[in-house]
Parts: sequence; structure tokens; C-alpha cells
Amino acid sequence: MGRVCVVIPAAGEGTRMGGLPKQFNTLGDSPLLYQTAWAFECHNRVDDIVVAAPADTTAHARHLMSGISKLVRVVAGGATRQESVAAGLAAAPRDSVIVLVHDAARPFIEAAAITEVIAAVVLHGAAALAVPVADTVRYAEGGFFTGEASRRNLFAVQTPQGFRRSLLAEAFESCVPDGAATDEVALVRACGHAVARVPGRAGNFKITTGEDWHRAERRWPAFARRNYES
Ligand code: C5P
Repeated sequence: MGRVCVVIPAAGEGTRMGGLPKQFNTLGDSPLLYQTAWAFECHNRVDDIVVAAPADTTAHARHLMSGISKLVRVVAGGATRQESVAAGLAAAPRDSVIVLVHDAARPFIEAAAITEVIAAVVLHGAAALAVPVADTVRYAEGGFFTGEASRRNLFAVQTPQGFRRSLLAEAFESCVPDGAATDEVALVRACGHAVARVPGRAGNFKITTGEDWHRAERRWPAFARRNYES
């Protein structure tokens, strides 16, 4: 099948607590970034891990990832997520055939979901996890609703997103580097390539707010027991 590399963008400023971004905060017994990387360390089809960390914290990130044997590089991320992923992609081993991209802020990623994304990439060249939107959705501006929208066929997209390496490289080379794309699916689709949808998991949420952090702390012990203890 060829080598599989996961790029973990972890260069967001996040919610600063104690002077470091949230990806360095402790969840369970280790930093969030480590817990997220651990899911890929344990996955038998993932060979290499590349992390994009804030430029002034790469040494710190390298130190705290010392237990991750698949780590090949910690690179300096950029001002946008797009730049961080581009830096990570450039550092992926040359013989990587598939590149996954997974947010550092999504530690609740199950092995089965990673397996399903890789399988869909083998079949279709590009794939991402997504869950149907359950709420009613509507446009708003200036404090008032301005337009209706249909939630039919509408999905909230998660990570990992996976791509044949050549496809992702082509997307980064040909896209306008304005940093506007909030994920890699947008870049690859802009190049005209179809991206397969793999059923996501409600539990695979992105830790963004303080409330998300509390939710993560409550859920982590049971998740870690179920997934990482025999
Ligand atoms: O900003 P957003 O919530 O979409 O971030 C998703 C992921 O991208 C996070 O893991 C964050 O650390 C990362 N990111 C990055 N470089 C940036 C901005 C975000 O690596 N400049």
C-alpha cells in the first residue's frame, strides 16, 4: 500500500493558558498534542508523524513528543492553518504515498475511523470524515436572520482528511496561497478532484472553547480506557 504519513497541524494560538497554546495543556496525564499523536502512534497502518508547532515552541514540542516513536519532524507552522499544513507536507518522508491531516485539537479519534479514511483514500484518492448537521441552519448578519438554508445534504467536516500525496501536493502548488481554505478538502476540490465522505463520529469534536476543554476532560478517562488499555 505504501507509506502513510500523518501531518498534525498544531500551530494555532488556541486559548492561551500559562503562556502556552492549548495543545500543550495537559489532558489526562499528557499534553493534548501528545494524546492526539498517540492515536496514530498506535495505528498499525500509519508509519510516520509530522507535527507543525508554533515557531517559538518547536523545541518544546519535540521534547514533549519524545515518547512518539513514529515522529519524524516537528516543523515551524505558519500564520494560517494552510501554511502549517504546507510546511508539514514538505517535511513528510519522500516515499509517503498517502498523507493524512489531523487537527491537534481532536484527540478523540478512534482507530476504526482512521482505518476507514485510509481505505477510502486507497479507493478514491481523497477522503474526509463528516457528520450530518442536526440543527436547523440559517444565515444571519448584524443580529438578524437574513436567509434560509437547507440542512439536507449538509455535513460538518472533521479530520482526519486523507489524500494521495501527489494530489495534496498538486493542490498546494496550484491553490492561491491566501490562507482562506479552512481545510484541505477545499483545496483538493478546487483542483477539480472528488473527495469521498466517510461517516464521522460525534465524539470526534475539535476542542475550541473553554467549554470544549471541560467536556474533553470529562470524557478523556473513559475514552483512553476503552481505546488504549487492554
Ligand atoms: O483554527 P482551527 O480551529 O481551524 O485549527 C485547527 C487546527 O489547525 C488546530 O490543531 C490548530 O493548532 C491548527 N492550526 C495551525 N496553524 C495555524 C492555525 C491553526 O497549525 N496557523
